[in-house]
This record gives sequence, structure tokens and C-alpha cells, in this order.
Amino acid sequence: MPHLTNLPRPPTDRLLQPHPRVHVVAILALLAATAPSPGASAARRLRGGSVFRCARELWREVEPLRVAPRLAQLDSVVGAAMRYRDYEKEVEGNMIWAMSLSLSSKLAQFQLSHGISGSVGEIGTYYGKYFFSIATAALPEEPKVDIDLFEAQHLNVDRSGGFVDSGRFRRHAAALGVANLTLLSQDSSTVTINTFVQMGTPAFRLFSVDGAHTFEATLRDLQLAACAIKRGGVIVLDDWLNMDWTGVVDASFQFLHNAPSIVPFLFLYLTTREFHPLYLAWAQQLPCLHCSSADRGMHSSRYELAGTPVCMDVRSGCGGWCG
Ligand SMILES: C[S@@+](CC[C@H](N)C(=O)[O-])C[C@H]1O[C@@H](n2cnc3c(N)ncnc32)[C@H](O)[C@@H]1O
Repeated sequence: MPHLTNLPRPPTDRLLQPHPRVHVVAILALLAATAPSPGASAARRLRGGSVFRCARELWREVEPLRVAPRLAQLDSVVGAAMRYRDYEKEVEGNMIWAMSLSLSSKLAQFQLSHGISGSVGEIGTYYGKYFFSIATAALPEEPKVDIDLFEAQHLNVDRSGGFVDSGRFRRHAAALGVANLTLLSQDSSTVTINTFVQMGTPAFRLFSVDGAHTFEATLRDLQLAACAIKRGGVIVLDDWLNMDWTGVVDASFQFLHNAPSIVPFLFLYLTTREFHPLYLAWAQQLPCLHCSSADRGMHSSRYELAGTPVCMDVRSGCGGWCG
């Protein structure tokens, strides 16, 4: 096997970051030296920080998953997710609207019908409240990867979640008939793309980030997710704008302003830049969402994040099953 490099690591000590004026000088030098990347917004260029890129070539080591689901299979995706709706109350934890069951199955159906298949996974599953919404909505041949500390809670730096009995998690998975499941019972900081490549796990069509909620951990997990997804894959970031976990919002903007190839289309779902129009149009026509649109006379940036149009629906009651 050829030598495989590790993911770049985020800075661990922001006190060591240069003074803002040093940033400005560095940015001007960078702008003079390099042509701006296509589509990178002025906002992103002005904010500074180093541009984050993935070593996507690592995925060449793994055979991509190619499935052509038939209509009946797409219906079964929704059917399985509906069965989870009935079981969901057995699973410990809370489900917020943006992670609703309905959205998970609709997203899976949309991706699969557009030929976007692959692994699904989550960092920070707890007992699987959200994870099972994506795992039951996946095809049997799509690998499901769960990364959590489980019983090793002495490594849980910010006490997000709490003790997780991996046996009980497995019993939930068995009850729901989740096939092709891998539990990585470890600190997410020890997981790299190499981990997936060595397991032969194909690139992800969906990757949820809900592990430790510190700035450092969230940024690191977002960077892993960004490299883990295939083109057209989606990252879901939980607890964004949850003011009990400010590290998440802090890291999300640091990430967004430095990862030009990853853009948000829905509060807060991200995809690779070239797929943004497809996903935004999808979100805008969902009956359970009320996507914001710029009011007449307002600047078009009103509903933008990091220079990208985004569906912001913070009012929605989409925690329910909404058609
Ligand atoms: C907020 S809970 C996740 C809730 C879950 N997504 C759900 O749907 O119920 C956070 C989880 O992250 C896990 N966790 C915390 N730090 C972690 C780390 N460094 N690596 C992996 N998992 C971690 C915890 O064990 C906990 O289960």
C-alpha cells in the first residue's frame, strides 16, 4: 500500500494566531501571489486564515460504491425510516427539528435518485437517535459508520452526551435491522481518512458531526467530514446556533471561511460547491421547510453564509413528520 498522509490538523492554540494586522499583510501577499479560486467570495478572502484542502486522492484506494437503486428501493428507504419513527422513542436522547426523521429520509431518497450513494456516518452518535434516522434510510449495501467514545467517557472533554452503553446501541441497531454497521469506539481525533481507507469504506454520501462541541474538536471533525464525503455528499452539523455550545458556531465559521470547496445550502447542511444549486433547489421545494428569501429591497446577502445562498428556516416545526 502506498504511503498515505494524515489529514491536516487545525491549530490547537488560537492564542498563537498572529495579530489581525499580520493577517492583513499575509492576505495581501497571498492575493498578490495567487489568483483567487473560482467562486471564492470576497468575504471569504477578506477574513483570512489558511485555506483548507482535502487530499481526495486517498479515496482512489477504495472502490467507490455504485448502486443504481430502483424505484421500489427508493420507496423502501422512506418505508424503513417510517419504521424508525415508531421505534425512535425507545432510543435515548433528543432529536431537534433540523435532524428530523422526515428530512433524513427525504435527503436519502433525493441523493440516491441522483446517483449519490456511499457510506453514511456520524461522529457522536450517543444512543443513535439521529444516527438511526440516516442508517435506516440508507440502502443495505451502504456502509454505516458510527464513531463515538461509548464507555470511554473519561475522554469526553466537554461532557457532551454522557455514558453510552455500546451493548444497548447494538441492540437498537439489531431491532431496526441496520445492516453493514461498523462501530469505531474511539476518540474522533484519532480517526483519519486512512482509517476509512484501510477499512475499505467508500466515501460518504452523508456525514454528521455531533461529537465533542469545543472549537477545536468541532473544527477538526468538520475537516474530517469534509474529506470523508464524496463529491455531492452532505455534512450535517448539529447544535449550530445552540448558544449552550458556542464552540460549534465559532468553529463552523472558521471552517466555512477557509474551506472554499464546501458550502452550506440549508441550516446547517453543507455540500461540495458544485452541487450547491441542486441541493438548494431541493431544500426550497420541501413542503416542511419555509426557506427564507431576500425581501424586496434588501441586499442579496441577507440569506448567505460565507458568501453562499442558504435556506435558513429557524422557525420551522420540522421535528415532526411533514409530508
Ligand atoms: C451530544 S451527544 C450526540 C447526540 C447524538 N447525535 C444523538 O442523536 O443523540 C455527543 C456524543 O459525542 C460523543 N463524543 C464526545 N467527545 C467525543 C470524541 N472526542 N470522539 C468521539 N465521540 C465523542 C459522546 O460520547 C456523545 O455520545
